[in-house]
Amino acid sequence: MQTEHRIIFADSRRMLELPHNTVHLMITSPPYPMIKMWDTQFEEANVEIARLWQVLRADPREETVTRLYEAMHIYLAEVWRETYRVLVEGGIACINIGDATRTINGAFRLFPNHSRVIEHCQRIGFTSLPYILWKKPTTKPKYKGKGAFLGSGFLPPNAYVTLDCEYILIFRKGKLRRFPKHDYHRYHSKLSKTQRDAWFTQIWNLTGTRQTASHVERRTAAFPLEIADRLIRMFSVEGDLVLDPFLGSGTTTEAAMLAERNSVGYEKDDALLPLIERRLSARPDACKLSVARREN
Ligand SMILES: C[S@@+](CC[C@H](N)C(=O)[O-])C[C@H]1O[C@@H](n2cnc3c(N)ncnc32)[C@H](O)[C@@H]1O
Repeated sequence: MQTEHRIIFADSRRMLELPHNTVHLMITSPPYPMIKMWDTQFEEANVEIARLWQVLRADPREETVTRLYEAMHIYLAEVWRETYRVLVEGGIACINIGDATRTINGAFRLFPNHSRVIEHCQRIGFTSLPYILWKKPTTKPKYKGKGAFLGSGFLPPNAYVTLDCEYILIFRKGKLRRFPKHDYHRYHSKLSKTQRDAWFTQIWNLTGTRQTASHVERRTAAFPLEIADRLIRMFSVEGDLVLDPFLGSGTTTEAAMLAERNSVGYEKDDALLPLIERRLSARPDACKLSVARREN
């Protein structure tokens, strides 16, 4: 089946290229609030976040940490709102996000990103559906934010539980999607019993994608192709349009190509283009790829 794939280097808080009610599925993994590797990107993207970091550095107060954390989620929520606009009635949004742990002002604590995303998406109008826990065996146990337990994990009560799961939150816009009776593409996208039994369950045991040596590849914090592939086959049918507003290395585009869906991906860092092109170079002949840039 002939499919089209667009990559747009632009800020996905405004997806001007996409009319209302045209996307069937959104899958993505945003920068995670309060994870160090994304600090600079959040700071550069939003003046309020940059201002709050400055305030925090000069005068470290708990209330500033709370406002900073909220400002990061307000930034992400702009993309969730745009997603709601472009999704069709019954369209699904899948958001992969991990919680963060961090020591600020000498106090170690959890930043429960998944719950903030759920709150924002519900306020926007999405219906929350049961979510998936992606269990990552790669994360090492921690003690006081410093890596391994160092033996103290055996001595109660000061060790804490390892963050070894990420969330795949699932939302729907409006009522269930409707199809004509015996719709060809829907029946042609039917899952096998093995797929259905393994995928529609709450815990997915998948190894994290191997982060290779290149700085650019590490920077994208890519999710495994298997995650994008499963979600696309579970929540869309052949020929649908799949969106990723935080495209990174292009995992979603690759999965959409393999599953015969159309796709559109937004990414604001155009230094990622060579990486994206490399991963999509072996695409099937039937996949047409286009790349565009928008300045603002
Ligand atoms: C966690 S990474 C996505 C990784 C991706 N799932 C993959 O498999 O490679 C998040 C990406 O979102 C991009 N980004 C952050 N804010 C953005 C925005 N407002 N618009 C478009 N892209 C954005 C970042 O540059 C980064 O590449």
